[in-house]
Amino acid sequence: MTPSIDTPALVVDLDIMERNIEQMARRSREAGVRLRPHIKTHKSPYIALKQLEKGASGITVAKLGEAEVMRKHGIRDILIAYPIIGEQKLKRLGKLALDTDVIVSLDSLEVARGISQAGKQIGRSIPLYIDVNSGLDRCGKEPGQETLELIELINQLPYIRILGLMTHAGHSYQEKSREEQIRISRQEGALLVETKKVAKEKLGIDIPEISVGSTPTSFYAHEVEGITEMRPGTYVFNDATMVALGLVTKEECALTIRATVVSRPSSDRAIVDAGSKTLSSDRNTYTEGYGFLKSCPEITISRLSEEHGVIVTPPDFEIQIGDEVDIIPNHVCPTVNLADELIGIRNGRIEGIIAVEARGKNK
Ligand SMILES: Cc1ncc(COP(=O)(O)O)c(C=O)c1O
Repeated sequence: MTPSIDTPALVVDLDIMERNIEQMARRSREAGVRLRPHIKTHKSPYIALKQLEKGASGITVAKLGEAEVMRKHGIRDILIAYPIIGEQKLKRLGKLALDTDVIVSLDSLEVARGISQAGKQIGRSIPLYIDVNSGLDRCGKEPGQETLELIELINQLPYIRILGLMTHAGHSYQEKSREEQIRISRQEGALLVETKKVAKEKLGIDIPEISVGSTPTSFYAHEVEGITEMRPGTYVFNDATMVALGLVTKEECALTIRATVVSRPSSDRAIVDAGSKTLSSDRNTYTEGYGFLKSCPEITISRLSEEHGVIVTPPDFEIQIGDEVDIIPNHVCPTVNLADELIGIRNGRIEGIIAVEARGKNK
């Protein structure tokens, strides 16, 4: 436990974060694919620029608002991995596309028509990634015939260019076994590669990019043939979910929530000043509670109110009012979205404050 910090606070160990960034850059190089990290995890231009400096070729965002913040800081290669709909957003997209290499993902002709219009307004083609379902069952038509039919229709529109096929194997978070994780990673790539092949054979359409991405599947990218790009996000900090999946250790978790014990009402209960408005309420399949103490992983945050985190303690557990704890959150991405700033520490000293400038940019 290091410097005096007012709590609750999000603290980033810069050495760990930089190691995570370098390790993922190495992993993508070794797999022979480009790295386009998803910045939803940190929402910070400072960290995005660091990822680019260490070898990322561009970034991924979910929202236009995030893209606008990143562009303001000079980032010019941005995938918006989200369908953009509505007059106001399309105007903003057009403005962004004037001086930024912006790619948009979508899975319907309706959305593609809007993007085509936006392209027409500015007199240039906007590149698209076609989102394909590889098992998460979120956005994306099925690979193969369904996606081919969509490609054929979209390809007839002016002012768009089909640049790639994209998928996100978020269902990899449901699988703990290494065999299953490898199977999902291979499937994530193979379904897209096969669809690309048939698009060329049947439609004569060449689709250069195959973009896959989640932090769990990035571990196996070298095993997957034909992908050109990966988009992990969580790896920059890691979290309790990644630890529970057995993919990283707690020492590889760069972000912790520093919290203070504000009440010890009984021998089996300690209350900290980090509730759902600090930690977020996200749970997942393999973790208990809402995060664990970095110094003592078997102790978890069992319950949350908005401003209270309840730690259920064994009777002999020593913790007192005024003590500080460092919590590794379940899911670091929504946690960061609740904070204005991250406190960067190195070797036990505060090195600087990192602004979470794109927090809350949900439009
Ligand atoms: C489209 C897309 N790409 C990439 C990612 C990054 O995945 P992860 O959070 O596993 O790093 C996400 C995460 O939600 C995503 O939705």
